[in-house]
Amino acid sequence: MFRSHTCGELRISDIGKEVILSGWVQRSRDLGGMTFIDLRDRYGLTQLAFNMDSNAPMCEAARKVNREYVIQIHGKVKERESKNLKMPTGEIEIIVDKLDILNTAITPPFTIEENTDGGEDIRMKYRYLDLRRNTVRANLELRHRMAIETRNYLDKQQFLEVETPVLIKSTPEGARDFVVPSRMNQGEFYALPQSPQTFKQLLMVAGFDRYYQIVKCFRDEDLRADRQPEFTQIDCEMSFVEREDILNTFEGLVRHLFKTVKGIDLGELPHMTYADAMKYYGCDKPDTRFDMRFCELNEVAKGKGFKVFDDAELVVGICAKGCAEYTRKQTDELIEFVKRPQVGANGIVYVKMGADGSIKSTVDKFYTPEELKKWAEILNAEAGDLLLIMAGEANKTRKALNDLRLEMGTLLGLRNKDNYQCLWVVDFPLLEWSEEASRFFAMHHPFTSPLVEDITLLETDPGKIRANAYDMVINGVEVGGGSIRIFNKDLQKKMFSILGFTDEEAQAQFGFLMTAFEYGAPPHGGIAFGFDRLCSLFGGSESIRDFIAFPKNNSGRDVMIDAPSVIDAHQLKELGIDVTLQEKK
Ligand code: AMO
Repeated sequence: MFRSHTCGELRISDIGKEVILSGWVQRSRDLGGMTFIDLRDRYGLTQLAFNMDSNAPMCEAARKVNREYVIQIHGKVKERESKNLKMPTGEIEIIVDKLDILNTAITPPFTIEENTDGGEDIRMKYRYLDLRRNTVRANLELRHRMAIETRNYLDKQQFLEVETPVLIKSTPEGARDFVVPSRMNQGEFYALPQSPQTFKQLLMVAGFDRYYQIVKCFRDEDLRADRQPEFTQIDCEMSFVEREDILNTFEGLVRHLFKTVKGIDLGELPHMTYADAMKYYGCDKPDTRFDMRFCELNEVAKGKGFKVFDDAELVVGICAKGCAEYTRKQTDELIEFVKRPQVGANGIVYVKMGADGSIKSTVDKFYTPEELKKWAEILNAEAGDLLLIMAGEANKTRKALNDLRLEMGTLLGLRNKDNYQCLWVVDFPLLEWSEEASRFFAMHHPFTSPLVEDITLLETDPGKIRANAYDMVINGVEVGGGSIRIFNKDLQKKMFSILGFTDEEAQAQFGFLMTAFEYGAPPHGGIAFGFDRLCSLFGGSESIRDFIAFPKNNSGRDVMIDAPSVIDAHQLKELGIDVTLQEKK
């Protein structure tokens, strides 16, 4: 028997028990007469005590044990003299009478403790050591709990978990595919799924009614803190439903997760149209933990001789409560912030509403105090507030003001990670025009149904059509998205033609789906949640990497196993791939 208890288990009520523990040496302290070792396993830490006076050989043995050795001990549980009430096992220690070294360890490249001295790169290279740390392990425990609770909820709602294939067909829509060469079909390639979208729709045609899968998806796109090339979705689809049925079911899932995992009761989720999200927050995933809504000032700010505003398509501002006392340095920092290339604005016009009733702005030359007061009224500002105003081309200005709004929210401490504000954003545009490709792209994907009332615009003004699509947004993060699908072959065909596919191309790429639609497709719709994003939100982190056991870095590399890597010329030949490509590398 390797152990009678885990390292997180023993309490004051166990005093006097003979126990066997196994684990890793987190730390050892040699105090001359006494040596202490903190023994660690997944469940916690237990202090081992060795006394020179009562058992010198054992104490000598303990002194030879280094960090991260794997040891087994036999001993007796004793009440500690100096208790550590911060540790669950902090009231006891084990007086050791037998110690076996099960395995030695070389010195780890960073300390395996709550706060490590290891940087990101080194921790990723030795991820198995990083995963020994409490904080990282706790993140994966949270992920496990979320997966279990997701399955519990969906199972109760009659959803069936069905696995869909990982080697599928490359499609031109969406992000770039990762492709896999086929040895048996030389010159041909599989693609890894960006999502199981078409398969889940086929499961609806097959009559499965309610499907879900916690599933790996693969996208070859630029990476950020909330994006990985392989990530996990809670992917779901339902038949015989309208939008409200889906929103209710999955609001239920998120409510269940908050309740069971975090003990939080979530209220009703508000709905916001895409148009309002853009108008009031300048983005389709507004952080609604704080107000600071956009107010448009075109009518009052233009035509007074200030060229920047006169030439602008949009003049729009926000009100930063209580910030009128900002110093020159502080306002300069905000201007520097918006001028960074990531934000790309030219500057900010600000108006300080002094607590004494005074009004000071950077555009005093062009506007009277009465005119500035009018702006303040529109922005709901009071004495003591600071108005921050930007102008220019409408979309660019909204995007830049969104960045500034979020920065102000952070500076003013309004983005507390424990305050969860969730909402549905609905009625997205169906299509996006690409100047570069000179054609429309599906904003969500080509299987999304238009809103019934907008279908007539298909012939006349496709760019104006709204989609029956929705995203769930929590604290400014898009955690999930989905839509009611097209289930009529002719409408689907029409959609492909608007997206620039010829009939032949549509047939070659998606013929299987359109054929399936001829065999009795039910009305259906669904959603997919970004599981890694949900976990990181629940865990209070901005980086999804912390919630993935073996993540990739920002260049898409796994630095631990060193992938991607060059492959053998023989292997390439077998796959029918031109070896000269590799030789060049
Ligand atoms: P969508 O492309 O919106 O929809 O993806 C659904 C959710 O997946 C998460 N997500 C990601 N998470 C981490 N890394 C990435 N690279 C990444 N890309 C997306 C986001 C997003 O909201 N098939 C449709 C869903 C449907 O219509 O049912 C789909 O994949 O949280």
